[in-house]
Amino acid sequence: MKIDILLGLQWGDEGKGKIVDALSPDYDIIARFQGGPNAGHTIEFNNTKHVLHLIPSGIFHKNKVNIIGNGLVVDPVVFRKEVESLGLGTETVRERLLISTKAHLILPTHKMLDAAHEASLGEARIGSTLRGIGPAYTDKASRNGMRVGDLFRKEFRDIYHARVAEHSRKLKGYDYSDNPGESEEEWFEALEYLKQFTTVNVDYYICRSLKEGKRILAEGAQGTMLDIDFGTYPYVTSSNTVAAGACTGLGIAPSCTGEVFGIFKAYCTRVGSGPFPTELNDADGQLMRDRGNEYGSTTGRPRRCGWLDLPALKYAIMVNGVTRLFMMKADVLSGFSEIKVCRSYTFNGSEAIELPYCLADIESLNYDTLPGWRCDITGCHSWDEFPEELKSYIEYIERETGVPVTIVSVGPDRSSTIYR
Ligand code: GDP
Ligand code: IMO
Ligand code: MG
Repeated sequence: MKIDILLGLQWGDEGKGKIVDALSPDYDIIARFQGGPNAGHTIEFNNTKHVLHLIPSGIFHKNKVNIIGNGLVVDPVVFRKEVESLGLGTETVRERLLISTKAHLILPTHKMLDAAHEASLGEARIGSTLRGIGPAYTDKASRNGMRVGDLFRKEFRDIYHARVAEHSRKLKGYDYSDNPGESEEEWFEALEYLKQFTTVNVDYYICRSLKEGKRILAEGAQGTMLDIDFGTYPYVTSSNTVAAGACTGLGIAPSCTGEVFGIFKAYCTRVGSGPFPTELNDADGQLMRDRGNEYGSTTGRPRRCGWLDLPALKYAIMVNGVTRLFMMKADVLSGFSEIKVCRSYTFNGSEAIELPYCLADIESLNYDTLPGWRCDITGCHSWDEFPEELKSYIEYIERETGVPVTIVSVGPDRSSTIYR
């Protein structure tokens, strides 16, 4: 058995949550491999909507194991609120969820450091979700992190206070208040809550499960263009969002990986700062935002919108080794008389199909224009019901990328998913 990986190919919010939920019946284990509460994965079914931040998107299915991998940074306060908001009851979530002992903890002071650092950047701010992600991963990399497994060690409080003292020194450098205040108490209470959940060595667990023939789906957060190495650095998140991140974030050997499902929107969005070549600051961009309800699932911020960027998509397919493409939010483009796709960039005076080192240096964009479709596609149940123009758009993408599009999503609900 091989582990399949599902991840975002753009700047996040591609619809990963919806598809992981839809594919969960085909798997025994659904395992998140990186990120933290900066993620917002939306799932809709039976006229209810859930937004998950830390919990894998297979949680609503019976008899499935959901795993929070070592690659995540976990805020216990967010975790507790999230479990309590699911409507499943703590006991049911406890039965369906395993947490890696090696996952790192987000401390209250990590959130303060995030806010202080962003404020210090002024105009150059990243547009972070301010969930403490960057500072928690910084502590991980500098070997000062606190992990879930530390919760069960008697030195836990001493280590915590040493970390907070260090963070307070840093915060003074930012001229920022150094008292975590009430949130510290809430954090300790939330840790007691978290301790009720089963913690495991996910690496051994996954290895054993594979030997037993279990089917495993690794769920990514964010998207390839936000990857710490391959994204639009420094306007990125602090983890590896690419397929390789599934190996380091769960303890999977590269030889055990199978399909790589790459999710992309029929257009592009980005929330936060940083270069976004195809961004539309016009009525078309606003129309995409309105029709696609493009407001952040975690922060509520309006998402920047633009046409599909093929060089960026091809790059993401390359670094991830994508074997199947899933196209999301096709319905949002219904009604546009023309669909534009950025085919190449002009960079240093000549046409470029590869991403330059700095996307902000792109001089202009070269677009292909395809005919749009006028009809509503939200009621379509099969490929055959799609308008010819939508089929042509999808076939154009397949030709350009060399990868088949095997799922097309036409609405937020679980059921609005067309398999080919
Ligand atoms: P994720 O972070 O990749 O899981 O994506 P988000 O949940 O942050 O953002 C995707 C948004 O689009 C959510 O509000 C989904 O409910 C919604 N969505 C997903 N698929 C579709 C679709 O095919 N059509 C429309 N109109 N909305 C969709
Ligand atoms: P999902 O999993 C979209 C963006 C932030 C900011 C940058 C760094 O829902 O697709 P961070 O809080 O990580 O320090 O923010 O990354 N960002 C996301 N954008 N979807 C996400 O997750 C994101 N997680 C972080 O807006 O620009
Ligand atoms: Mg999201």
